[in-house]
Amino acid sequence: MPAHPQLDSQGNLKHLLTTEGLPRRLIEQVLETADQFVSIGEREVKKVPLLRGKSVFNLFFENSTRTRTTFEIAAKRLSADVINLNIGASSTSKGESLLDTIDNLAAMDADMFVVRHHSSGAPYLIAQHVKPGVAVVNAGDGRHAHPTQGLLDMYTIRHYKKDFTRLTVAIVGDVLHSRVARSQIHALTTLGVPEVRVIGPRTLLPADVERLGVKVFHDMKRGLEGADVVVMLRLQNERMNGPLLPSAQEFFKTYGLTADKLARAKPDAIVMHPGPMNRGVEIDSPIADGTQSVILPQVTFGIAVRMAVMSLLGAGGRHE
Ligand code: CP
Repeated sequence: MPAHPQLDSQGNLKHLLTTEGLPRRLIEQVLETADQFVSIGEREVKKVPLLRGKSVFNLFFENSTRTRTTFEIAAKRLSADVINLNIGASSTSKGESLLDTIDNLAAMDADMFVVRHHSSGAPYLIAQHVKPGVAVVNAGDGRHAHPTQGLLDMYTIRHYKKDFTRLTVAIVGDVLHSRVARSQIHALTTLGVPEVRVIGPRTLLPADVERLGVKVFHDMKRGLEGADVVVMLRLQNERMNGPLLPSAQEFFKTYGLTADKLARAKPDAIVMHPGPMNRGVEIDSPIADGTQSVILPQVTFGIAVRMAVMSLLGAGGRHE
């Protein structure tokens, strides 16, 4: 795999696989391009012809509500033809390999694959395999990365807080299994956020997480002190090998976001969650639905950010 598997020789985006090592200028280019698409989303006719004649294949080997749907909306607003492969009803159940599936879809003139897979690295494998000019977007691979979620979270933070270089961002909960947290941390540090904190029990934080440039807290109230942004994460029970916690109730007591814990953050702190949320486990309902919550705007911004990513990839990384 070359040093920059997602960039071409001119440094333009040819795939989007991870926010790790993604240059600041490209992250900013995505956010600025998304600004234009937010305004298109406010029009009566929400379509532009940037991907007219292109075929986008959504391949979701893991379940999804937000990511799959917003990718479909984004591609349709860009006028692409969108094909949602129903993996459960596809010939993968007859033993067809991932790359054979890709080859067959490529033979139908696919221009872009949007891939969610339970195995970390699956989108990289596909990106290495497809012919030049076909783009691959990672829509979440195992515990590894969820770059468009990371980018839409940056868009949301920038929308409410403007200047990344003055922020304290706290990421709380099951960081160990969270591809979202990893994508956020890489993007936040690249954008110059001076303090990124991770908060959780030892069993749910990666042993070497400080290597990513974050501060570790096990005491949630201390970790939230003075935070501008609070990101809550779901307990990913499906990725846990055996119990890592006494119980969900115990977790909520110690690490669930409640009004008394949120009071430690700045009064104008925003509360984020990539979804799906488990109310009463990592977040209390009044907080999820409260005035500081920007959880639903995150979803809406996801359309514009995914339009930005797909339009940049469709234009060979250059925006006309
Ligand atoms: N945030 C996120 O990836 O949600 P979905 O699993 O519903 O796509």
